[in-house]
Amino acid sequence: MKTQLLAIKQDITTLEVDAIVNAANRRLLGGGGVDGAIHNAAGEELYNACLKIGGCMEGEAVITKGFKLPAKWIIHTVGPIYGNENGRESDMLRSCYMMSLHLAVDNNIKTIAFPNISTGVYGYPIEEAAPIAIQTVKDFLEEERHDIEKVYFVSFSDNDYEIYKNLLSQQ
Ligand code: APR
Repeated sequence: MKTQLLAIKQDITTLEVDAIVNAANRRLLGGGGVDGAIHNAAGEELYNACLKIGGCMEGEAVITKGFKLPAKWIIHTVGPIYGNENGRESDMLRSCYMMSLHLAVDNNIKTIAFPNISTGVYGYPIEEAAPIAIQTVKDFLEEERHDIEKVYFVSFSDNDYEIYKNLLSQQ
Protein backbone atom coordinates (compact mmCIF):
# COMPACT_ATOMS: atom_id res chain seq x y z
CA MET A 1 0.00 0.00 0.00
CA LYS A 2 1.28 3.44 -0.90
CA THR A 3 1.47 5.99 1.91
CA GLN A 4 -0.21 9.32 1.22
CA LEU A 5 1.80 12.48 1.88
CA LEU A 6 -0.51 15.45 2.43
CA ALA A 7 0.00 19.19 2.94
CA ILE A 8 -2.65 20.81 5.12
CA LYS A 9 -3.10 24.16 6.84
CA GLN A 10 -4.63 23.68 10.26
CA ASP A 11 -4.14 23.89 14.01
CA ILE A 12 -2.35 20.59 14.63
CA THR A 13 -4.04 20.15 18.03
CA THR A 14 -7.42 19.63 16.35
CA LEU A 15 -6.37 16.72 14.11
CA GLU A 16 -7.98 13.33 14.52
CA VAL A 17 -4.93 11.23 13.74
CA ASP A 18 -3.12 8.47 15.58
CA ALA A 19 -0.21 10.78 16.44
CA ILE A 20 0.78 14.40 16.21
CA VAL A 21 4.40 15.46 16.50
CA ASN A 22 5.44 18.27 18.82
CA ALA A 23 8.34 20.64 18.06
CA ALA A 24 9.52 20.67 21.66
CA ASN A 25 12.61 21.87 23.51
CA ARG A 26 15.10 19.81 25.54
CA ARG A 27 13.23 20.24 28.80
CA LEU A 28 9.96 18.96 27.28
CA LEU A 29 7.90 21.07 29.64
CA GLY A 30 6.13 23.29 27.12
CA GLY A 31 6.92 26.67 25.62
CA GLY A 32 5.53 28.90 22.90
CA GLY A 33 4.51 28.08 19.34
CA VAL A 34 3.16 24.66 18.55
CA ASP A 35 4.59 23.27 21.81
CA GLY A 36 2.53 25.73 23.85
CA ALA A 37 -0.59 25.00 21.83
CA ILE A 38 -0.18 21.25 22.31
CA HIS A 39 0.43 21.52 26.06
CA ASN A 40 -2.58 23.83 26.45
CA ALA A 41 -4.86 21.52 24.53
CA ALA A 42 -3.61 18.24 26.02
CA GLY A 43 -3.79 19.45 29.63
CA GLU A 44 -1.78 19.06 32.81
CA GLU A 45 -1.42 15.30 32.49
CA LEU A 46 0.87 15.93 29.53
CA TYR A 47 3.09 18.18 31.62
CA ASN A 48 3.35 15.48 34.28
CA ALA A 49 4.12 12.77 31.73
CA CYS A 50 6.89 14.93 30.24
CA LEU A 51 8.27 15.72 33.67
CA LYS A 52 8.60 11.99 34.29
CA ILE A 53 10.48 11.47 31.02
CA GLY A 54 12.95 14.14 32.11
CA GLY A 55 14.02 15.66 28.79
CA CYS A 56 15.07 14.88 25.24
CA MET A 57 18.18 15.69 23.18
CA GLU A 58 18.12 17.51 19.85
CA GLY A 59 17.39 15.15 16.99
CA GLU A 60 15.75 12.58 19.27
CA ALA A 61 12.11 11.83 20.02
CA VAL A 62 9.94 10.50 22.85
CA ILE A 63 6.28 9.52 22.98
CA THR A 64 3.41 10.24 25.37
CA LYS A 65 -0.31 9.73 25.25
CA GLY A 66 -2.41 12.46 23.68
CA PHE A 67 -4.45 13.02 26.86
CA LYS A 68 -7.17 15.59 26.03
CA LEU A 69 -6.24 15.78 22.35
CA PRO A 70 -8.20 13.97 19.65
CA ALA A 71 -4.87 12.37 18.68
CA LYS A 72 -4.05 9.18 20.59
CA TRP A 73 -0.34 9.88 20.84
CA ILE A 74 2.07 12.82 20.91
CA ILE A 75 5.61 12.32 19.65
CA HIS A 76 7.88 15.02 21.05
CA THR A 77 11.02 15.80 19.11
CA VAL A 78 13.59 18.55 19.60
CA GLY A 79 14.72 20.30 16.45
CA PRO A 80 18.04 22.09 15.93
CA ILE A 81 18.41 25.82 16.53
CA TYR A 82 19.38 27.21 13.13
CA GLY A 83 22.91 28.62 13.11
CA ASN A 84 23.74 27.10 16.49
CA GLU A 85 24.74 23.55 15.61
CA ASN A 86 28.04 23.88 13.71
CA GLY A 87 26.60 22.92 10.34
CA ARG A 88 24.84 19.84 11.69
CA GLU A 89 21.41 21.46 11.41
CA SER A 90 20.19 19.46 8.42
CA ASP A 91 21.37 16.11 9.88
CA MET A 92 19.65 16.93 13.14
CA LEU A 93 16.44 17.98 11.43
CA ARG A 94 16.49 14.79 9.41
CA SER A 95 16.98 12.81 12.59
CA CYS A 96 13.87 14.42 14.15
CA TYR A 97 11.70 13.09 11.33
CA MET A 98 13.41 9.67 11.29
CA MET A 99 13.21 9.12 15.05
CA SER A 100 9.58 10.25 15.13
CA LEU A 101 8.69 7.78 12.39
CA HIS A 102 10.52 4.95 14.17
CA LEU A 103 8.42 5.64 17.26
CA ALA A 104 5.32 5.69 15.08
CA VAL A 105 6.12 2.23 13.72
CA ASP A 106 6.91 0.88 17.21
CA ASN A 107 3.50 2.05 18.41
CA ASN A 108 1.47 0.85 15.43
CA ILE A 109 0.63 4.40 14.40
CA LYS A 110 -0.93 4.60 10.94
CA THR A 111 -1.65 8.31 10.62
CA ILE A 112 0.85 10.94 11.76
CA ALA A 113 0.97 14.74 11.50
CA PHE A 114 4.18 16.79 11.58
CA PRO A 115 4.40 20.52 12.24
CA ASN A 116 7.19 22.45 10.51
CA ILE A 117 9.86 21.53 13.05
CA SER A 118 12.47 24.22 13.86
CA THR A 119 11.00 26.78 11.46
CA GLY A 120 9.49 29.05 14.13
CA VAL A 121 11.39 30.14 17.24
CA TYR A 122 14.38 27.99 16.18
CA GLY A 123 14.78 29.99 12.96
CA TYR A 124 15.21 27.30 10.28
CA PRO A 125 14.17 28.85 6.94
CA ILE A 126 11.10 27.04 5.67
CA GLU A 127 12.53 26.94 2.14
CA GLU A 128 15.41 24.80 3.45
CA ALA A 129 13.51 22.80 6.04
CA ALA A 130 10.52 21.70 3.95
CA PRO A 131 12.49 19.74 1.29
CA ILE A 132 14.48 18.02 4.06
CA ALA A 133 11.26 17.07 5.85
CA ILE A 134 9.65 15.62 2.73
CA GLN A 135 12.76 13.78 1.53
CA THR A 136 13.39 12.27 4.96
CA VAL A 137 9.84 10.98 5.23
CA LYS A 138 10.04 9.51 1.73
CA ASP A 139 13.37 7.83 2.50
CA PHE A 140 11.99 6.32 5.68
CA LEU A 141 8.87 5.00 3.97
CA GLU A 142 10.98 3.39 1.25
CA GLU A 143 13.64 1.94 3.51
CA GLU A 144 11.75 0.73 6.58
CA ARG A 145 8.99 -1.80 7.21
CA HIS A 146 5.86 0.09 8.20
CA ASP A 147 2.07 0.27 7.99
CA ILE A 148 1.85 4.04 7.84
CA GLU A 149 -1.12 5.14 5.74
CA LYS A 150 -0.98 8.92 5.90
CA VAL A 151 1.66 11.51 6.74
CA TYR A 152 0.38 15.07 7.13
CA PHE A 153 2.69 18.08 6.84
CA VAL A 154 0.82 20.67 8.86
CA SER A 155 1.40 24.35 8.19
CA PHE A 156 0.08 27.26 10.18
CA SER A 157 0.63 30.02 7.61
CA ASP A 158 -0.44 30.38 3.97
CA ASN A 159 3.17 30.83 2.90
CA ASP A 160 4.36 27.56 4.51
CA TYR A 161 1.33 25.71 3.20
CA GLU A 162 2.00 26.89 -0.38
CA ILE A 163 5.63 25.74 -0.15
CA TYR A 164 4.63 22.25 0.98
CA LYS A 165 1.81 22.01 -1.55
CA ASN A 166 4.17 22.94 -4.39
CA LEU A 167 6.90 20.55 -3.27
CA LEU A 168 4.47 17.64 -2.88
CA SER A 169 2.87 18.28 -6.26
CA GLN A 170 6.31 17.89 -7.87
CA GLN A 171 6.81 14.42 -6.37
N1 APR B 1 -0.51 24.03 14.73
C1 APR B 1 0.37 23.84 13.72
N2 APR B 1 1.50 24.55 13.59
C2 APR B 1 1.74 25.52 14.51
C3 APR B 1 0.89 25.78 15.61
C4 APR B 1 -0.30 24.98 15.69
N3 APR B 1 -1.19 25.13 16.67
N4 APR B 1 1.40 26.79 16.33
C5 APR B 1 2.55 27.16 15.73
N5 APR B 1 2.75 26.40 14.63
C6 APR B 1 3.86 26.42 13.67
C7 APR B 1 4.68 27.69 13.58
O1 APR B 1 3.99 28.64 12.79
C8 APR B 1 5.93 27.20 12.89
O2 APR B 1 5.73 27.11 11.50
O3 APR B 1 4.84 25.47 14.05
C9 APR B 1 6.08 25.77 13.41
C10 APR B 1 7.22 25.55 14.38
O4 APR B 1 7.42 26.70 15.16
P1 APR B 1 7.73 26.65 16.73
O5 APR B 1 6.52 26.18 17.45
O6 APR B 1 8.29 27.97 17.11
O7 APR B 1 8.83 25.47 16.86
P2 APR B 1 10.42 25.49 16.69
O8 APR B 1 10.89 26.48 15.68
O9 APR B 1 10.81 24.05 16.51
O10 APR B 1 10.97 26.01 18.07
C11 APR B 1 10.88 25.21 19.20
O11 APR B 1 9.74 26.86 20.42
O12 APR B 1 8.17 27.35 21.99
C12 APR B 1 9.16 26.69 21.68
O13 APR B 1 9.15 25.03 23.39
C13 APR B 1 9.41 25.26 22.03
O14 APR B 1 11.55 26.01 22.71
C14 APR B 1 10.85 25.30 21.71
C15 APR B 1 10.91 26.08 20.42
